Amino acid sequence: MTAQQITLETMMPEHLDGAVALSRQAKWPHRRENWELALSVSQGIVALEEERVVATIMMTPYGDDAATINMVIVDAAMRGRGLGRKMMEEALASAGPRTCYLVATQEGLPLYEKLGFVTTGEIVQHQGEAPTVEAPDHVSWSESGDHACLVTLDHIAYGHQRSALMRLLRERAKFAVIREENAVQAFAAIREFGRGLVIGPVVARNDIEAKTLIDFLLAHHQGTFVRIDTDVSTDIAEWLTGRGLAHVGGGITMRRGTDAQENKRTAPCRTYALVSQALG
Ligand SMILES: CC(C)(COP(=O)(O)OP(=O)(O)OC[C@H]1O[C@@H](n2cnc3c(N)ncnc32)[C@H](O)[C@@H]1OP(=O)(O)O)[C@@H](O)C(=O)NCCC(=O)NCCS
Repeated sequence: MTAQQITLETMMPEHLDGAVALSRQAKWPHRRENWELALSVSQGIVALEEERVVATIMMTPYGDDAATINMVIVDAAMRGRGLGRKMMEEALASAGPRTCYLVATQEGLPLYEKLGFVTTGEIVQHQGEAPTVEAPDHVSWSESGDHACLVTLDHIAYGHQRSALMRLLRERAKFAVIREENAVQAFAAIREFGRGLVIGPVVARNDIEAKTLIDFLLAHHQGTFVRIDTDVSTDIAEWLTGRGLAHVGGGITMRRGTDAQENKRTAPCRTYALVSQALG
């Protein structure tokens, strides 16, 4: 790789076809709309060899103190030549002093460790055809006035304000909610992603609520391909397998910088399923 051959540029919508080609090559299921969603809340960088996209990365800021680093892909033919590190250095520079989070593949792990990321846990990916289950009766679809409450619950559970992301999800996802005394206490979103649908985020006070919300969504999408990514510490993975959603892979959660999500351990609700591995 020489400086003349490769240029780094801000990722723009016209780069998305090239980005989709790269994610397909890496056997990731992302559709163009999934890249678009990520880009609309992120600062993306592409590496171009002439006009061709040969590497991608995104930095998704959540306020001034946190960010996720995601969609890190280098064309298979160009790996091992320092391009991945260069992309990471650019993305980390754009994150500034923010604490950075990511979900790593085994391939990415050595690079991230060299750049100061430490392992914090593990995500498991479950997927399959939504089984026939009975729709629980105390769950309903969200109403237009619920949005502010969903943003607040997500903030409490995730530990960072993600209102820009939640605004986009409001347009692209359907939300199931559990209400008590007229206030939303827990919610789960479902939207189109990859091969079918993805369930997430799921924010609930306990695993019974999380499972109830997921069952509601499965019941309404019976027979459709559904994916859920959950942190192993939630303990719902085995239950997902029992629902016919097989464990097919996952990733390693990593952090660089101080743990800015400390408060979430004592929060009254938690995230049971990710928006995506990219966005947390
Ligand atoms: C992960 C990926 C982006 C790395 O890109 P790359 O251009 O090959 O990375 P680089 O050439 O900059 O190498 C990065 C560093 O990791 C090191 N490294 C790579 N594999 C390693 C291994 N198995 N053990 C130890 N170190 C390793 C390299 O030596 C290099 O270190 P250095 O900068 O100190 O020399 C690329 O493999 C890829 O696109 N994989 C498929 C998609 C994917 O899994 N992305 C990660 C998503 S989280």
